[in-house]
Amino acid sequence: MRELPPARGPITESLFETLAAPPHGADWSGLRRLDEAAEPLSDEDLQLALYCCYELHYGGLPGVDDRWEWNPWLLGLRAKLEDVFERALLDAVGAPDDSVAPEEMDLALRAIADADDGPSLSRFVELRATVEQVEEFAIHRSAYQLKEADPHSWALPRLSGPPKAALVEIQADEYGGGRPDRIHATMFARSMEALGLDSEPGAYLAAIPGFTLATVNLMSLLGLHRRWRGAIVGHLALFEMTSSIPNRRYANGLRRLGFGPQATAFFDEHVEADAVHENIAAVDLAGGLARQDNRLGPDILWGARALATLDARWAKSVLDAWQDERSSLRTAAPKAVASL
Ligand SMILES: [Fe+2]
Ligand SMILES: [Fe+2]
Repeated sequence: MRELPPARGPITESLFETLAAPPHGADWSGLRRLDEAAEPLSDEDLQLALYCCYELHYGGLPGVDDRWEWNPWLLGLRAKLEDVFERALLDAVGAPDDSVAPEEMDLALRAIADADDGPSLSRFVELRATVEQVEEFAIHRSAYQLKEADPHSWALPRLSGPPKAALVEIQADEYGGGRPDRIHATMFARSMEALGLDSEPGAYLAAIPGFTLATVNLMSLLGLHRRWRGAIVGHLALFEMTSSIPNRRYANGLRRLGFGPQATAFFDEHVEADAVHENIAAVDLAGGLARQDNRLGPDILWGARALATLDARWAKSVLDAWQDERSSLRTAAPKAVASL
């Protein structure tokens, strides 16, 4: 990230002003708006603030002292933001209370995947999207894909035995299996470049709406809290189980628009890789964790449902904008964003 995005309200204003100075005690008591976000799952100010708090644990923030990462006052703000986000998730998804026999975990996850009857963004991209819409799609996805797999890696030290081995097997592929050019995040960066976009992480953060940032914040929330280790496993399992077919469609859409292998390699890779990951994730990782500790079963399924819920909202918001012939981004033309 080259520079912090513009603030979107009192929370990000106060956060960015605080982070500009060396670590110190910060007073957030003036931020009463924290509890007032009417739609926390798409609130611009709340989701951007949370995304930036989490970013300190990934690539860091430009011009921000790395010691802020573990500053207790900053963590205090993050905890308040997470509390609002988590309560909104529980409202939207319901409480984690579905139980299932460990040996049926993969079937229960499959049922969640099959129940997803939201509008299909991948079908739209395959058949109808314009070049500008495909660019918008890549910009939305860049919020996660340029650090693909990292949020799920937080689960590694929280697992042991068979589910840990399964997660490592998946993540090894996500990180290129020893080949830097095959790191999925790097392959996504190459796709962005083939589309004429800036592949620097955070280059388009100002343009990415809260409803998209929420899909990434969900992963960071679940990955960074040990108590949610079941949910981050369920999230990854469903992610892998629902990836192969949409990625084939995205690749087809890019080819339809005349883009070549550099643009499509990331998506083609996922058609193959995730067909393999799907089984490891559902049976060995999610099923393996449930066999180890069946008390985590409801959380595993909840993580999957949370992913399905936020992704459906994201796809609907993007498609609604396109149907109205609007940009789905906060600022319109991506090329103009690139030159900001
Ligand atoms: Fe991947
Ligand atoms: Fe994968």
